[in-house]
Amino acid sequence: MAVAGASQQDDSRCHTKSLYRPFACRVELVRDLTPTEKMFRLVRLDGKEFGHRPGQFMQVSITGYGEAPISVSSSPTRGEYLELGVRQAGTLTAAMHALKPGAEIGLRGPFGTFFDTDAMKGKDLLLISGGCGLAPMRALIQYVVDRRDEFANVTILYGAKSPQDILYADELDQWEHAKNLQCQHTVDNVPQGTCWDGNVGLITTLIPPLEIDPSNTIAVIVGPQIMYKFVIEQLFKKGLGDKNIIVSLERHMKCGVGKCGHCTIEHLYCCMDGPVFRLDEIAHLKGAL
Ligand SMILES: Cc1cc2nc3c(=O)[nH]c(=O)nc-3n(C[C@H](O)[C@H](O)[C@H](O)COP(=O)(O)OP(=O)(O)OC[C@H]3O[C@@H](n4cnc5c(N)ncnc54)[C@H](O)[C@@H]3O)c2cc1C
Ligand code: FES
Repeated sequence: MAVAGASQQDDSRCHTKSLYRPFACRVELVRDLTPTEKMFRLVRLDGKEFGHRPGQFMQVSITGYGEAPISVSSSPTRGEYLELGVRQAGTLTAAMHALKPGAEIGLRGPFGTFFDTDAMKGKDLLLISGGCGLAPMRALIQYVVDRRDEFANVTILYGAKSPQDILYADELDQWEHAKNLQCQHTVDNVPQGTCWDGNVGLITTLIPPLEIDPSNTIAVIVGPQIMYKFVIEQLFKKGLGDKNIIVSLERHMKCGVGKCGHCTIEHLYCCMDGPVFRLDEIAHLKGAL
């Protein structure tokens, strides 16, 4: 059975006002992940649940600094908070990086399609992420870890540019030591003078040695644009079909709710029809990958 990105946005479209109005959240915890990425744990001031699913994103805003889409990086199975992994890229994210616990921040969402974990039940999962892609992938990994019995073999692969760019290093270590998961990570290169005894090479080098049952495997890929083509090539060599490969795509976004047209891939709106797509839905579209 194929797994598609699923959407809960059809319901929320009825509540147009609430789509545009941010709700207030308090920053509970800020943690450095790398020199350029921080993790933020947020709770809603109104005490309501976020209602997110792994793979979805929030529109995050700070008055005077604008708004940006950021993927949810924690699973709803972890409680009433929501975590974001944020790279300092420009105006809004720089303002976020200056926040301390106790600060308030605005959120809209959750928006977009999500990883269809119901359709993944009983399947072998191959979860492949690169760079900042581990942020949304972490939400799915946490979900799978918390409901481990629902899934068959689970393999996690992660690639970062260098040792200092590795996100969630402590959790990667836990996943690598978990008896019911297979987890490996690699770095593209190791700067001189850096202590590192792990894998070196592109993430694609981790795929050929894997034993994969293509008839029962769902692969999920989240990472920088350049990664998709080469990872998909390796998965095709393993016999996986495009209906069993799920990707999450990033596009420039403004409204997040299908109104402004900034995020289109041909006829699709990445903010509503995505960001999670099944490969066969988008592979033929110009500029999708
Ligand atoms: C679905 C989705 C999920 C995402 N999830 C995450 C996530 O989990 N974590 C994360 O860190 N990011 C994520 N992003 C990316 C994030 O939304 C962008 O990095 C966003 O632009 C950050 O907003 P900003 O205001 O900080 O940056 P901006 O101010 O918009 O700047 C972003 C980039 O544009 C450049 N720029 C800005 N203005 C100009 C200009 N005038 N001329 C030339 N270049 C300019 C900046 O130098 C910078 O490189 C996601 C994006 C999408 C679409
Ligand atoms: S971000 Fe506005 S239509 Fe998608």
